[in-house]
Amino acid sequence: MNAPHKPKTFHVKSFGCQMNVYDGERMAELMAAQGMTATDDANAADLVVLNTCHIREKATEKVYSDIGRLRKHGNDPMIAVAGCVAQAEGEEIVRRAKVDVVVGPQAYHNLPELVSKAARGESALDTDMPLASKFGALPARRRVAPGAFLTVQEGCDKFCTYCVVPYTRGAEVSRPFDAIVDEAKALVDAGAREITLLGQNVNAWDDEAGTGLHGLIAALDKIPDLARIRYTTSHPNDMRDGLIRAHAEVEKLMPFLHLPVQAGSDRVLKAMNRSHTRDSYLKILDRVRAARPDIALSGDFIVGFPHETEAEFAETLSLVDAVGYAQCFSFKYSPRPGTPAADMTDGFIPGEVMDDRLQRLQAALNRDQAAFNAATLGKTCQVLIERKGKLPGQMLGKSPWLQSVHLMTDAAIGDLVEVEIVRADPNSLAGVAI
Ligand code: SAH
Ligand code: SF4
Ligand code: F3S
Repeated sequence: MNAPHKPKTFHVKSFGCQMNVYDGERMAELMAAQGMTATDDANAADLVVLNTCHIREKATEKVYSDIGRLRKHGNDPMIAVAGCVAQAEGEEIVRRAKVDVVVGPQAYHNLPELVSKAARGESALDTDMPLASKFGALPARRRVAPGAFLTVQEGCDKFCTYCVVPYTRGAEVSRPFDAIVDEAKALVDAGAREITLLGQNVNAWDDEAGTGLHGLIAALDKIPDLARIRYTTSHPNDMRDGLIRAHAEVEKLMPFLHLPVQAGSDRVLKAMNRSHTRDSYLKILDRVRAARPDIALSGDFIVGFPHETEAEFAETLSLVDAVGYAQCFSFKYSPRPGTPAADMTDGFIPGEVMDDRLQRLQAALNRDQAAFNAATLGKTCQVLIERKGKLPGQMLGKSPWLQSVHLMTDAAIGDLVEVEIVRADPNSLAGVAI
C-alpha cells in the first residue's frame, strides 16, 4: 500500500468505448461528492483511476504499462483499476501489478468505500454484478460538456465468438424509461445540447410497455433545450422499423448511424456468430437510406478472423464499396481469453497477412471518408460548438453527420451555428458562419 491516507486529489483516465467515458465521468462525480478534487495531471494525483478496456490484447496491455509509469513518475498514488480489465482479470491484476483497488463496471458505485478500505490497508476488490443497478447509487449530474453521453442499456447477450463484452459487462439490461428521461433533463440543465444514448446494443433498449429506442427518442425530443440526439452502438438484428422511421420523422435525431458489420462474407459472419448476413445487413442500410437519404453510415470491421481466406476478405472490400461509409473503425482480430474464437488456433492468420488486409481495408475506408467529406463542400449545416481551436478566435464543433468542423467565430461553447462548409479535408471540414 502506497497511500496510507485518504486521497485528496484524483485523476480518472478512461480507455476504450464511449461507455467507459460515461462511466469515468460518473466515477469522477462520485469522488467529487466525497470532497475530493479532480486534477488533470495523473502524476500529481493522490488517487488514479484507470478505467480500462479489454476488447483487444493491446488495450489490456496498456493498463500494465500505465501502472508501471505511474509507479515510476507519479506521486506514489493509490491506483484503482476499473472497467473491463478489472472485471475480466480481477485478482490477477493484484498479482501482476501493485494496485490498491479493483472495481468492475457494474460495481463502481462502491468506489468511495473501496478507496476508504484501501486507505486502511485492507484489500479492496469488487467485481460483483449485483441485481440492483448501480445507477440509483450515483450522485446527480454536474456541469457537463455540450455533447453528453447517457448510458441507457448495458451488457450483451449476442456472444459474437471473438468478443469479451458479454463477459465483462454482463447480460443485456435496459435502464428504466423514467430514470433515463430524468437523467437527460438533468444533463440538459447542466449544459448539454446534444445527448448520445449509449449501449453495447443500444437499439435493443426496451421496457415492459415495448416502448423501444424510438419511443425513448420521441420522449427526449420533447425536452425543449435539447437540440440533438444520437445513439450508439447498434446491432443489425435490433434495427426495428420504428427506429428507422424515427430517422425520417424526428428532426433532433442526427443523420448518423453506426451499424457494425465486422465482415462481408457470410461464412465468416456465421463463424463470428453475428446472426445477420451480408445481404440482410445491406437491406437494412437501404431502408435507413430510404428514410433519411443524407444519413452518414459508419461501421466496425475485423480483419483476419480465424480461417478468413483472401476471397472472403475480398467480400469485405466489396461490401465497403457497396455501402460508401462516412467513417469506420477497423481492427486486426485479437484472440481474447475465454472466447470461442480464441480456440480456433489452427485457423489463426499470420501477422503480415493481417497487416496487409488491414492496410487495404483502411485505404478503401479512407477513400470513402474523404469522398463523403468532399460531398459536404458548399453545403450549409448547423455546427454544435464544442471547444476552442488552436488559433485565436477559432472554434471546433460537429456537423450533423459527426464531422469535425473548425471555423472562426465569436460563438460560445454550446452554441449552434449555421455554417457553410468551405473546405473538406479527409479528416475534418472548415466552415464559415453565415
Ligand atoms: N457492441 C458493438 C461493439 C462492441 S466492441 C457491436 O456489436 O458491434 C467494438 C468493436 O471492437 C467491435 O465492433 C469489433 O469490431 C471490435 N472487436 C471486438 N472484439 C474484437 C477482437 N477480439 N479483436 C478485434 N476486434 C474486436
Ligand atoms: Fe461484442 Fe457482438 Fe455483443 Fe457487440 S454484439 S458487444 S461485438 S458480443
Ligand atoms: Fe472496451 Fe469494455 Fe468498452 S472491453 S470497448 S471498455 S465495453
